[in-house]
Amino acid sequence: MMKMKMKATTLCAGLMVISATAFAQNIKLPAPQKSGGKPLMEALSQRQSMRDFDTKTLGEQTLSNLLWAAYGFNRDDKRTVPSAMNRQEFEVYAVTEKGAYRYNAKDNVLEQVSNKDLRAQTGKQGSTAPLNLVYAYDTKKMSDEKLAYGDCGFISQNVYLYCASEGLATVVRGGGMNKEELAKALSLKQDYAIVFAQTIGYPKK
Ligand SMILES: Cc1cc2nc3c(=O)[nH]c(=O)nc-3n(C[C@H](O)[C@H](O)[C@H](O)COP(=O)(O)O)c2cc1C
Repeated sequence: MMKMKMKATTLCAGLMVISATAFAQNIKLPAPQKSGGKPLMEALSQRQSMRDFDTKTLGEQTLSNLLWAAYGFNRDDKRTVPSAMNRQEFEVYAVTEKGAYRYNAKDNVLEQVSNKDLRAQTGKQGSTAPLNLVYAYDTKKMSDEKLAYGDCGFISQNVYLYCASEGLATVVRGGGMNKEELAKALSLKQDYAIVFAQTIGYPKK
């Protein structure tokens, strides 16, 4: 009897996992293009914060390239950004009109964590732009907040440079959001802390 009850509980839990997975609309991104773009000195010349965004969405190829620039792997187990003590403590979330996704850099997949439009929760400035990235880190992997903020700066700067290279508008944002509420909406584990959000889109003409 006890065994049957346990089996039923296991089956139930299994079905819950399957149904949650079935609802998640993960996006397999095309492979990032690792060549082209403006020469570095030109991109540096054009790097700037821009705050007026067109509502036009970014294509999946652009998204893949951008996320790879932000936090992809450029070697077997190391990334496009340096990381204090190689802790690689960050997760990058992509928040769009269609939902919010965790960037799985190894598989180049956007794993859906919410099917809601959470853009306004990343801050008013990002509420109508097509994409907001949210940078959150595992405080268990990295206990020194200063080092984590330093690591986050590299991610953000890579995004700035990619945007400068591709003629996209971007601004990094340190405030203007309720980080605790946003962490809940993104289903972040308790040990994770949000550092910055960064808005990206085509410049408004
Ligand atoms: C940590 C950090 C937080 C920022 N937060 C905001 C913000 O909340 N809103 C905003 O419009 N710009 C924000 N910025 C962008 C700065 O205002 C901008 O970098 C600065 O004015 C210099 O302009 P530039 O990036 O075009 O060189 C932030 C920049 C940094 C580095």
